[in-house]
Amino acid sequence: MTEQTLVLIKPDGVARGLVGEVLTRIERKGLKIKALELKNVSETLAGEHYAEHAERPFFGSLIEFITSGPVVAAVLEGPRAIAAFRQIAGGTDPVEKAVPGSIRGDFALETQYNLVHGSDSPESAKREIALWFPEHPA
Ligand code: PPS
Repeated sequence: MTEQTLVLIKPDGVARGLVGEVLTRIERKGLKIKALELKNVSETLAGEHYAEHAERPFFGSLIEFITSGPVVAAVLEGPRAIAAFRQIAGGTDPVEKAVPGSIRGDFALETQYNLVHGSDSPESAKREIALWFPEHPA
């Protein structure tokens, strides 16, 4: 089943020069890039994107981090694209959960600075694509 997912290369990934590395891994996996943009993130966009985490203790630092520098936002498409990207990203904690060979497992040390975001469900993907790419066809 072909589906779409919203992926972010977070400020740490852009600042560390890992955009090419991440996009290469996405393309090598076979996922198609349907939209791609370097964006500065407003507090409003950040708050809407992470709205479901508003009550969590790290929410403030998450918003501060995601607005701290440009991110690369992308819409990816392919069979099981949501799970496929989360597989190549690795688990949220880059040491305890992400395995070597994954983006986070290979390049990250701390949960906050875990380089990438990928939608976690078809509902989240639809909501996040509309948020980051309002002009993108649904
Ligand atoms: S997930 O992937 O949604 O299941 O992960 P979750 O644990 O629910 O985390 C949601 C997002 O919050 C980030 N996160 C943190 N940031 C800073 N400090 C701490 N301790 C922390 N724990 C989790 C995590 O990277 C998720 O961001 P995204 O952008 O969705 O990957």
